[in-house]
Amino acid sequence: TPVTLIGVPLEEGSGRRGCVMGPTALRIAGVDRVLAELGFRVSDAGDLKPEPVEGLEVGLPPQAQAKNLAIVAGFTRALEAATHAAASAGQLPILLGGDHALSMGSVSGMARHASERGRPLFVLWLDAHADFNSSETSPSGNMHGMPVAFFCGEAALPGILPDDRPLVDPRRVYQVGIRSVDAREREEVAEHGVNVYDMRALDEMGAAAIMREILAAVEAENGLLHVSLDVDFLDPEVAPGVGTTVPGGATFREAHLIMEMLCDSGLVSSLDLVELNPFLDDRGKSARILVELTASLFGRRIFDRPTRSA
Ligand code: ARG
Ligand code: MN
Ligand code: MN
Ligand code: MN
Repeated sequence: TPVTLIGVPLEEGSGRRGCVMGPTALRIAGVDRVLAELGFRVSDAGDLKPEPVEGLEVGLPPQAQAKNLAIVAGFTRALEAATHAAASAGQLPILLGGDHALSMGSVSGMARHASERGRPLFVLWLDAHADFNSSETSPSGNMHGMPVAFFCGEAALPGILPDDRPLVDPRRVYQVGIRSVDAREREEVAEHGVNVYDMRALDEMGAAAIMREILAAVEAENGLLHVSLDVDFLDPEVAPGVGTTVPGGATFREAHLIMEMLCDSGLVSSLDLVELNPFLDDRGKSARILVELTASLFGRRIFDRPTRSA
């Protein structure tokens, strides 16, 4: 499968500046080069230009909060179209973020693609956060805390994409590494049946057992699998270049094993690399780790590294 890189210079979904530099840092760290070395045909679509949007605030419920709604909406529309177009053309899209609000668009685009193929879309959400707030439950109003609720149709953000767009069934969302969830968000996640493997589950079960369960679920329904990797899934000592660090995160080895098992499964249809904030990073450390993990997801092996071109 040819791979398409799409830069998403979005930072307005987060509470601070810096993620706009994420796509550049990932390119400098060599994301295109490692994929080419693994034998993939790689094209870089450059940085996505958002559509101009205004006036959406009027559609929000009273008391709702969604900061920079118009900017995030413009990116979401452009991203939904670009991700869908790449997947329809037989390419595997990799979104170079950019904050996590970008998954509103990438996952929605993949949901449309999957529904056209008559296959269910599954989402693997590797994150410290559940990102299941709505405009009504968010304590911060930051839209990078809302993407999962959005692509499941629960974010109370009308007008960004058509109401009849394909949604993701929250019971096909699998979250791993979770350790920071807001009070009302917790109720929503439980009510809608999102599958949460929190840090305790990762400690008790280990990454391999968790991944076997998730991959079996995807396989059982012949699903497509979208992977969304938030830098803060990793422990801050491993990856400090993110605005929302939470202590007690995944180790490099856990993340690496997850990537290798994803690769072996052959089920991954699309990937987000999000929340990298190069302004907060330590000499490119986090950018390099994201590129390392991407290489593992696409077939790099510690021993006997075969060149794979699928
Ligand atoms: N739950 C918090 C909020 O909604 C933090 C979300 C952090 N999300 C992220 N993608 N880093 O504001
Ligand atoms: Mn996130
Ligand atoms: Mn997070
Ligand atoms: Mn609900």
